Amino acid sequence: MDHGTARPVLVTGASSGIGHCVARSLADQGCLVYGTVRNDGDEARLREIDNVVPLRCDVTKPDEIADAVRVVMGAGRGLYGLVNNAGLGELGMLATWTDEELLRIFAVNVFGPFRMTNAFLPLLLESKGRIVNIGSQGGMLSKHYYGPYTMTKHAIESYTETLRIELEPYGVLASVVQPGGVATNIGAASRAGTVARFRRAEEPFREEAEQVLGFFTAPPPPEAPAAAATEEESETNRRPSPPEIVAEAVYEALFSPAPKLRYLVGTRWEGDRVLNALMAKLLDENDNPKHGYTRGELIAMLDRHIEEHART
Ligand SMILES: NC(=O)c1ccc[n+]([C@@H]2O[C@H](COP(=O)([O-])OP(=O)(O)OC[C@H]3O[C@@H](n4cnc5c(N)ncnc54)[C@H](OP(=O)(O)O)[C@@H]3O)[C@@H](O)[C@H]2O)c1
Repeated sequence: MDHGTARPVLVTGASSGIGHCVARSLADQGCLVYGTVRNDGDEARLREIDNVVPLRCDVTKPDEIADAVRVVMGAGRGLYGLVNNAGLGELGMLATWTDEELLRIFAVNVFGPFRMTNAFLPLLLESKGRIVNIGSQGGMLSKHYYGPYTMTKHAIESYTETLRIELEPYGVLASVVQPGGVATNIGAASRAGTVARFRRAEEPFREEAEQVLGFFTAPPPPEAPAAAATEEESETNRRPSPPEIVAEAVYEALFSPAPKLRYLVGTRWEGDRVLNALMAKLLDENDNPKHGYTRGELIAMLDRHIEEHART
């Protein structure tokens, strides 16, 4: 694999969590990293890391994106990789979301990558570079209270796949990294908005919302972490992964000679959940007068796809 020595890569949302870990790990491996931040403290912290150049940029603000493009172009090193990582993880029952809140999460999680990619596209075309979007396993699944978040991550799936199709002939390859639960600041950063939405739930959702609020406000029992670690992973006993496993997938997507379109990252339990959800969708689609393939026909189709996949 090309180790990317001195290749410039821009990572959005480098102040914390996955973005910070990706920026640090790419810099450790010799890349020149532009990391976007939104305040003085984060800018100063990033500046202390070798090979990292902080860029002030809110991905919802076209003027700040244009300034970031000017800085990167002015440095004269071009741009090899763009990692669209900045994102919000707001939760809440669909019935409690306002239009403004929905627009906000789409502004950051969908319009952000869209604007950043188009703004930096001339540089990426010049370098025949890579685009890595941080999606989520929520791009493949839907579940209670994650509605708008998973809507944005479903959009990122289609966005990345279309980028791949349209840009590959011009030498630019796009991939989506799909983490499961990762131990970061995302829950804390979205807590106030999430709690406010559950508080505004009206009948008939009130009682359910109160139960969820109880979970947000109750202190964890002191013995819980040790007990949880010995039990199987489940919906109520999750095992968040370290952000380093996301950084490894991003590195692979940036520097592998043949990067995959999708990188599923997380625990075995989470991966099984995604595969099961995809199979349930497949069977839903097959339950249709025009298809309705038999079990044997479906298995033969799957075998053909396995062979094709192995060839690509
Ligand atoms: N943690 C998980 O379990 C998980 C799972 C799957 C996918 N992901 C995805 O991973 C990505 C990173 O999340 P994380 O878990 O690392 O969360 P995090 O620790 O909360 O980090 C989010 C980052 O996004 C930045 N950001 C938010 N709004 C922004 C805006 N308008 N402009 C520019 N930057 C903005 C934040 O900057 P500030 O510090 O300035 O707010 C921060 O750097 C997200 O796309 C998320 O959906 C996370």
